[in-house]
Amino acid sequence: MPDPPDLAQQREEFEREASAASDRAAWEALRLKWLGRKRGIVRGLLSQLGGLPPDERKDFGQAVNRLKNSVEARLEELDASLSARERTASTQSAALDVTLPGRPPRVGTAHPVSLVVREIVEIFAGLGFSVAEGPEVEDDFHNFEALNFPPDHPAREEQDTFFLRDGRLLRTHTSPVQIRTMVDRDPPIRVICPGRVYRKDNDLRHSPMFHQIEGLAVGKGITFGDLKGTLEAFVHRLFSEETGVRLRPSYFPFTEPSAEVDITCPFCSGSGCRVCSDTGWMEILGSGMVNPRVLERCGIDPSVYTGFAFGLGIDRVAMIRFGIPNIRLLFDSDERVLRQVRG
Ligand code: DAH
Repeated sequence: MPDPPDLAQQREEFEREASAASDRAAWEALRLKWLGRKRGIVRGLLSQLGGLPPDERKDFGQAVNRLKNSVEARLEELDASLSARERTASTQSAALDVTLPGRPPRVGTAHPVSLVVREIVEIFAGLGFSVAEGPEVEDDFHNFEALNFPPDHPAREEQDTFFLRDGRLLRTHTSPVQIRTMVDRDPPIRVICPGRVYRKDNDLRHSPMFHQIEGLAVGKGITFGDLKGTLEAFVHRLFSEETGVRLRPSYFPFTEPSAEVDITCPFCSGSGCRVCSDTGWMEILGSGMVNPRVLERCGIDPSVYTGFAFGLGIDRVAMIRFGIPNIRLLFDSDERVLRQVRG
């Protein structure tokens, strides 16, 4: 039985709208428009039933029901195909593209200071030295007194040393590790002691925290010649065989005699440049023969044993080694700087 003309028109309209509904929002609007409980078109048609002459009611009612059924079926069908599309879209967006190149994990690099420490420790290991360490919080005895600093020595003053409230202090050099080692062990002794040290200094070339390596050799018959030979061997390995080494007389309370050690400037090979202030030389460490008074304080008989010691600023060596112009660059931990330095 054909639909009455007005319903055929509705059916066509619905078909047109249904084939244009391409997403969930359009589907929902369509459903509301046709099947909405209050203002839906189907509901509107059914409400016309009561106003019809009784003989037309049945046919019209059946026609509306057919329309309703086909609207429902079509909406269901649309719903199913929209759902299928939604599912594929979401699996696609969550999919893993296994053909993409991997992202390598970012691996850290060793700090320039660590690189230099490693290298120095290795060189001295080859000369029979082993590593010894001591605390960064020290007492006056180990940092000054046992090292033969007189009570009024300027290094002890408040403006150079960080003192703790209890009278202890942040060690101002690695030399107290010499004392601890000599107190603890009997000769022969050959140690190097890398570590952090602290002084109230802060400018382009000084940082309140910096690093030193202490070296100490104590035994029978050790001479100044051994000190010089050891330092030369060390400098030649750390810089190059051509690097010149020069010892200048100096003074430290814990060594006698004492010497400051210069190397030919690694930037100009000794001909003179801006970095070495046109001298051709760079001071890199302090050294000397362990003062007999220091040996005695540590319970080592100076009439039987002698020794040499030296202390070197690691940060300065790292700056020379890697061409780092400003000590702060070492401690700012700026990855862009640190990544440029390779051991
Ligand atoms: N402790 C000294 C300083 O901080 C460096 C030093 C000089 C260490 C001579 C030594 C040495 O062992 O013999 O300036």
